[in-house]
Amino acid sequence: MNTNALKQQAGEYAAAFVESSMIVGLGSGSTAIFATRRIAERIHRGELADIVAIPTSLATEAAAIELGIPLTTLAEHPRIDITIDGADEVDPAFNLIKGGGGAHLREKIVAQATERLVIVADDSKLVDQLGASWALPVEVIPFGWESQAAYLASLGASPTLRMDGDTPFETDQGNIILDADFGRIADPAALDTTLNARAGIVEHGLFIGMAHDVVVAGADDLRHLRKA
Ligand code: 5RP
Repeated sequence: MNTNALKQQAGEYAAAFVESSMIVGLGSGSTAIFATRRIAERIHRGELADIVAIPTSLATEAAAIELGIPLTTLAEHPRIDITIDGADEVDPAFNLIKGGGGAHLREKIVAQATERLVIVADDSKLVDQLGASWALPVEVIPFGWESQAAYLASLGASPTLRMDGDTPFETDQGNIILDADFGRIADPAALDTTLNARAGIVEHGLFIGMAHDVVVAGADDLRHLRKA
């Protein structure tokens, strides 16, 4: 089975966790979109009523509008029942690296307002330690971004400015991203605290202790892991 089919399995499985009258966070990326599409199908089949959703990126917002999913805002609904989102790495404690699509700021804002964050992934995303295979996306404001790159290097990372063709990739907030390769991250919670304290870093892709469930699809099985 190819990776896309595994992503589809995981995303569609998790869409079954959504119940009528829920406020739903819609994740971003090529796995979460399968959950979003299945939620739309369930709404249109009449299986789900009174659903309103909050998208985690402009791309997801556009998809949700096209799919006919009613949208709301955090101003109207500050508490979200369930969010289904993807991840780039998931460690055994359900800590995550996110931001492969550059949407991690909105994703974290939605996640921290969410009662139950469900991560959907193919099994290539499971790692024994964060940083094993993915550089940490760090969103920084354009002003003085070089000083953030130098700061990340001083912490032991190799930062690379994310590009979109010939120009820097621009986030939904008009910021830019440094992909900071830290190698294996021994203490993700400590790095989270360090990066949170730095002016100019808007947000980074470490999601510590936020996920409640992980739905992971592999060639042989689909597993629903729950936080102990
Ligand atoms: C976007 C994200 C995505 O959820 C993450 O990159 C996983 O993407 P995909 O499901 O396409 O592999 O964090 O900012």
